[in-house]
Amino acid sequence: MWEFLPPQVRLRGAPRADERTARQLREDYERFRDGLPRPLEPYVLATYAINLASAYGGLRVKNPFGKASGQLSLAAHQVEKDAEAGLGFVVLKTVIAQDQQGEQSMREWAIPETRMLVERVRGRSGEEGWTVTWKGRGWYESFEAYRRLFDQALVLGRAAEMVVAPSVKYHLPTPQETSWKEEEYTFTTRALVETWSKHSKGLPMPLEKDFSPTLAGSERATQQTKILEWLERVPAFIHRAAPGKVCVGLKIFNTLFEDGFQLRMLEAIHAPAAGESRAEFFVYANRLFDPAKSFEGKMGVAYGGPDLSERNLSVLEKFLAGQGRPRDPAKLLPLSATGDIQSGRVAVEYLLRGASTFQMHTLFQLPDSEFAMKSGSKTEKALHRLLFHPQEGFLAWVLDLGRRLGWSSGLKVDEMAAWCRTNWNEVAQALRD
Ligand SMILES: Cc1cc2nc3c(=O)[nH]c(=O)nc-3n(C[C@H](O)[C@H](O)[C@H](O)COP(=O)(O)O)c2cc1C
Repeated sequence: MWEFLPPQVRLRGAPRADERTARQLREDYERFRDGLPRPLEPYVLATYAINLASAYGGLRVKNPFGKASGQLSLAAHQVEKDAEAGLGFVVLKTVIAQDQQGEQSMREWAIPETRMLVERVRGRSGEEGWTVTWKGRGWYESFEAYRRLFDQALVLGRAAEMVVAPSVKYHLPTPQETSWKEEEYTFTTRALVETWSKHSKGLPMPLEKDFSPTLAGSERATQQTKILEWLERVPAFIHRAAPGKVCVGLKIFNTLFEDGFQLRMLEAIHAPAAGESRAEFFVYANRLFDPAKSFEGKMGVAYGGPDLSERNLSVLEKFLAGQGRPRDPAKLLPLSATGDIQSGRVAVEYLLRGASTFQMHTLFQLPDSEFAMKSGSKTEKALHRLLFHPQEGFLAWVLDLGRRLGWSSGLKVDEMAAWCRTNWNEVAQALRD
């Protein structure tokens, strides 16, 4: 098991605000219990001078909050609710790649969902949070059905200015294998690009390559050199399938190895200077794996909660600090954060480490009693909590940090993220506990 090293920079206590802003936030939090202001982003800009616009997968998003790939993005009605609620983007459930004949080397991941258990969890630091335990894996209907979902989701997304991206699990060789089933990359990528192109005016399609945390429990993850080879080679296979048409995002998983190996993974994806081997963005980082916990007769489960965010934040800050070596921020790939983002405060903690968007899964599964908004969809309730909570919300913390770090007003979220990367040492100094 990895060693627990808490992040050095945390946002603790209450965000600082002048009396007028604090009152405005409290009033808005109460006022919007019955529904968010529409349109949301212009309201936030006019009231708080915070520009929520950002970028995901090379595309502009109206706000940085998205739904992470999973059980909550496998049906059109779910995407429709997210569009209505005002999410910035949605990543569809992971589909298992196939070749032209319909063969799937990763078909063991295409099994139906079983029961999901949403439960409270206490992190190693003692912090309380939530995790979801389940046994399911990837999309288990046909690939054609996935393309239909993608098509419908793009129509819904477009009407609401919400970006929609597919997520794919392609063939990855085991430590014993040397060959790659490139046919799966070619067929699946081209088919998805074809669907995307119907809606997209020539822009590249964002696509997340899921390496899946559950792989961390299998022997596939036992060999570090193999994992590094995956990270090095996957972008080129996807790019080659549809040159210039895909914006590749690598969804990095938490391995069973120490932080040093997580850093090597991050180094590996940044190593190619340019060209087909370089991904366009990365997602950090899918869930932790507990080999000693059992669920419904299966030993070893993926989990999240405070351990996940603490580990991710800790690794990301070490990566930015460059372990003593100065890092050129201009050469860092855009980062979309995932992992225990259950409050705006945690989103801002990822923002400080350079994340320009935030994708959640567990938050959308919490019981209604966890939300102050009593009507509306879970997605709207979550946005209300993420943005407007007077102590834990995104707006309160961005206002506080903007003042402390001297941000000019009206910065977009991706510009704030870039600023933090460029000035990480200053951020760390200003905020260190
Ligand atoms: C029930 C469940 C299903 C998931 N399915 C997928 C998936 O198909 N593909 C994927 O890339 N991640 C999947 N994930 C991971 C989430 O996308 C997300 O990255 C992770 O749960 C961390 O975010 P969270 O702490 O907000 O849940 C799943 C997570 C859960 C809890």
